[in-house]
Amino acid sequence: MEKTVSASDRPEQPGRRRVLGFLVGSGVMASFVSFVYPILSFVLPPQSGELDADTVAAKVNELAANSAKIFRMGNRPGILVRTADGDYRAFSAVCTHLNCTVQYRQREHDIWCACHNGVYNLQGAVVSGPPPKPLEQFEVHARGQDLVVTRESRT
Ligand code: FES
Repeated sequence: MEKTVSASDRPEQPGRRRVLGFLVGSGVMASFVSFVYPILSFVLPPQSGELDADTVAAKVNELAANSAKIFRMGNRPGILVRTADGDYRAFSAVCTHLNCTVQYRQREHDIWCACHNGVYNLQGAVVSGPPPKPLEQFEVHARGQDLVVTRESRT
């Protein structure tokens, strides 16, 4: 007589179950991390340590009067303006409206955001357009032949 084998008659294979459980758990965890990490990277601000460092924005005689240049300050752009009077001003070049990069307009002597026509004066204050706040202003110092930009809040 032939005997049928039921599931309860089979020998237990705990090692195999443990391996399968580990693989399934690892897959679920990897999926969760790959889903959450980009969201957290977008929502949380980047480390600001780099922004606190001195940044060489230009050489002393690099900019003519009434001109400007975009420089990299940490992981963000900054804008160094040499006014028509020869003074230097430095700001974050990130528009406070929706984060477009601003530019200097020589004819108007102002800082302009092309995205939505936001205008800032050379103190960084909003003149017109949608930006809700002034541009963050930085200090500019000459150090040898370099123009060094630092955050004003640093003491
Ligand atoms: S992003 Fe600059 S005005 Fe909108």
